[in-house]
Amino acid sequence: MSTHVSKAIQGMAFFLITLTTPASWAAPDAVAGQAKAQVCGACHGDKGVSNIPGVPHLAAQPQLSIFYQLLQFRDQRRKGGGMEAIATSLSEQDMRDIAAHYAAQAAPLPQAGGDAQKIARGQHIAQQQYCSSCHGAQLQGQKHVPRLSGQSTEYFVAQLRNLRSGARADMDGTMASAARSLTDEEIEAMAAYARSLP
Ligand code: HEC
Ligand code: HEC
Repeated sequence: MSTHVSKAIQGMAFFLITLTTPASWAAPDAVAGQAKAQVCGACHGDKGVSNIPGVPHLAAQPQLSIFYQLLQFRDQRRKGGGMEAIATSLSEQDMRDIAAHYAAQAAPLPQAGGDAQKIARGQHIAQQQYCSSCHGAQLQGQKHVPRLSGQSTEYFVAQLRNLRSGARADMDGTMASAARSLTDEEIEAMAAYARSLP
């Protein structure tokens, strides 16, 4: 399983690099990214921690994951929250800079006082399903794989349902196959678990 998964990740990283590397682009600039992210703060929060239920936290997400999702929105392969239109106004350099800015922000605080039984159940399912083999031991994300820890539960549940149904396409089908057999109850338990993680 883990060899298979890490091969999938390496393969995808290679694919992304060959797909998106033009002859020249400057290194991502988090300071420039902060200025460019002004417009994003209204929904995603000043430092990438959103106050609006259903709007994802971007703080501490892997740089490559933010960049890749913005490309998906720009190319209309992913739709939702009006992000398709917003991403169209960004250059790839803007996306890289903004991604570097959010990746460097402090992670959202874990939610205290959640339903302990539900959280334990979510942890158990996540272990059984090897979610951490791609999303990291603390579900903190890595490379192009998004961070789940601390994420908004509404957002987590909606996205996992969309990935399960195919309403949200994923880049290589690995996430869709991971989601296929999950029930709503399992998804909600894992969302509570992820929300409780630092
Ligand atoms: C009007 C509110 C709004 C604004 C402004 C906005 N976003 Fe979003 N963003 C959303 C919503 C809602 C979603 C969830 C979309 C979905 O349901 O798939 C989202 C999703 C995203 C995601 C995907 C996160 C993930 O974990 O997959 C990224 C990346 C993102 N936005 C970046 C940005 C950036 C960068 C800007 C500014 C240039 C921005 N957003 C401006 C509402 C907004
Ligand atoms: C084989 C690797 C892999 C495994 C295993 C995996 N994921 Fe994912 N997951 C991904 C990738 C890659 C994405 C980004 C999908 C895309 O947009 O292309 C993703 C996206 C997600 C998202 C959307 C996050 C966001 O910010 O939009 C959620 C929620 C999620 N995964 C939950 C899970 C859960 C829960 C499990 C275990 C049942 C799991 N994943 C197992 C690779 C994986």
